[in-house]
Amino acid sequence: MTIRTATINGVATIEIARPEKKNALTVAMYQAMTDALVAAREDAAVRAVLITGQPGVFTSGNDIQDFMTRAPGQGADAMDSPVFRFMRALLECDKPVVAAVTGAAIGIGTTMLLHCDFVFVSDEARLAMPFVALGLVPEFASSLVVPQLMGHRRAAEKLLTGDPFTPAQAVECGIASAVLPAGEVVNHARRVAERFNQLPPGAVREAKQLMRGPQHELILQTIRSEGEIFARRLRSPEAMEAFQAFFQKRQPDFSKF
Ligand code: COA
Repeated sequence: MTIRTATINGVATIEIARPEKKNALTVAMYQAMTDALVAAREDAAVRAVLITGQPGVFTSGNDIQDFMTRAPGQGADAMDSPVFRFMRALLECDKPVVAAVTGAAIGIGTTMLLHCDFVFVSDEARLAMPFVALGLVPEFASSLVVPQLMGHRRAAEKLLTGDPFTPAQAVECGIASAVLPAGEVVNHARRVAERFNQLPPGAVREAKQLMRGPQHELILQTIRSEGEIFARRLRSPEAMEAFQAFFQKRQPDFSKF
């Protein structure tokens, strides 16, 4: 079992559960999460969605083995890939999405938080968007949203060096709502999600739609442009060196490029 889903008290929970690989996300896991988001949207009894991980790890991002072996298509094919469909379902979820970041949130683990409504982070978590260090480029509109959230300088630290940052920094730069003790983060996030049982669902839906505003189209357009470059870079010698170094548990050597 790698994705567990349950709907309890109006909250559809998507729990990433592949702890032996630090919750790295495979194609099948993206598909299961997409199905859960679509089902949550269609079920009138669901008032909010909760995305969570395992103690100590939210997700270590895309499975790097998958990056090496599964060539995403180019153009329209890339836009129809499981990860794209998952992110599109997240972006288009018309119910509040609450994330409980139970630990490390790397790569898409942090990128997906940019498109959630509430983000509660364990005080033991670390966040990072190490795309450039992996020979890749920012994805899913992070090249647009991260500079908008925190300004170019602080975005450059996070997107160009990819260095990890703390939960407190995540709050300070606008990625997270609050930091909670590790043992309390899921329950706190669940309580926030359950508040939507007392709020009028139609007004919540329309308010969320309004908050997306004209930026929504720009986000989709940015996702498409980033996706083209990302797909090309996945096959680059720089990325191959970074992926091999990860599995060989060594530092990558970019001196030859
Ligand atoms: N893809 C595939 N496998 C991954 C993975 C990923 N994103 N992240 C972790 N794993 C695997 C490791 O290869 C290892 O497998 P093994 O036991 O067969 O050797 C196992 O999960 C445990 O990972 P390990 O690195 O030993 O754990 P750690 O506690 O020392 O470090 C992380 C945890 C999350 C900091 C570290 O695994 C990491 O940096 N992962 C890669 C994150 C990344 O670059 N993601 C971005 C993708 S865009």
